Amino acid sequence: MSDTSFIPRVFSGIQPSGGLTLGNYLGAIKRFVSMQDEDYETVYCMVDLHAITVWQDPKALMHNTRELAAGFIASGISPEKSILINQSQVPEHAQLGWIFNCVARMGWMQRMTQFKDKAGKNAQNASLGLFGYPALMAADILVYHATHVPVGEDQKQHLELTRDIATKFNHDFGVDFFPITEPVIEGAATRVMSLRDGSKKMSKSDPSDASRINMTDDADTIAKKIRKAKTDPDALPSEAKGLEDRPEARNLVNIYATLADISVDQVLAEHGGAQFGTFKPALADLAVAKLSPISAEMARLMDDVSEIDKVLARGAEQAREITAPILKKTYEIVGMVGS
Ligand code: AMP
Ligand code: TRP
Repeated sequence: MSDTSFIPRVFSGIQPSGGLTLGNYLGAIKRFVSMQDEDYETVYCMVDLHAITVWQDPKALMHNTRELAAGFIASGISPEKSILINQSQVPEHAQLGWIFNCVARMGWMQRMTQFKDKAGKNAQNASLGLFGYPALMAADILVYHATHVPVGEDQKQHLELTRDIATKFNHDFGVDFFPITEPVIEGAATRVMSLRDGSKKMSKSDPSDASRINMTDDADTIAKKIRKAKTDPDALPSEAKGLEDRPEARNLVNIYATLADISVDQVLAEHGGAQFGTFKPALADLAVAKLSPISAEMARLMDDVSEIDKVLARGAEQAREITAPILKKTYEIVGMVGS
């Protein structure tokens, strides 16, 4: 099936399960912002229903949802250009999620590495929601007939599952109804690594705060974390090939390239031969220059959350204009009697 019959539409989401990290910003949000100005309709979402697949303190969840919205807006997502929502306020996500629970197979879910990572050794004690998480994610995307989904590398498997669900639904009901969505996983920062361990993803749930840069960190904290980031004793190479077996060095160079909007080769043309004692302060200056305006704007927005709440309320209304007819048609296809 070709996607030519579908309007080019972007959907992506981030969990409000903690603060935003530099990994979220470089791996996802920066691309969300640039896609706004391309030929797509864009829908961006705080996936609060996904967040509660592991326990969230209700007050913290409300705070984190608003702060994530502030982070989106402060990073350049414009409520005039994009629809900005929190998932729970557009009920069609959960409704289509149920249908997809009945399309997806147990075996598919059991293969999901994110479930295995998050459930750990104690899978029997994980919530049923954590297991079914990818079916809801497929619903998030397909309830908009979204054609493109910008994400970091860790979400690739979930997007393949989304394609499998769309294909099986279309096949089982003999329709061409759901698009086969394209993942958009591009650039040097699709997998930003921990500052303490170049083999681990930078994550909002890492117990060590020094492992990540939070979008709300102040300039001193950012500089200190970069100064203390784990590295090797060698100077930077002058070509990308020289980073192959140096995960920590590669990570810092990738971060630099993405923050500066230049290629890894360009970074190395400029900094090749430099020691980390020189490169780290340059990276810290760049990070502070790029992130400080965002964190200042986030703080301003969080001062009066009524503005954020208004944006989300309007977003939910706009979203439902798209999702309600798609859900209605889905129900008809499946055989639900309705008016
Ligand atoms: P999450 O915070 O897990 O909800 O992730 C939200 C988005 O940020 C997804 O598109 C992830 O792939 C992306 N993301 C999260 N952590 C990283 C990272 N360390 N590097 C690149 N992308 C990331
Ligand atoms: N699973 C994604 C993550 O953890 C968040 C997410 C939920 C998402 N629904 C989505 C991302 C739909 C893209 C599209 O990062």
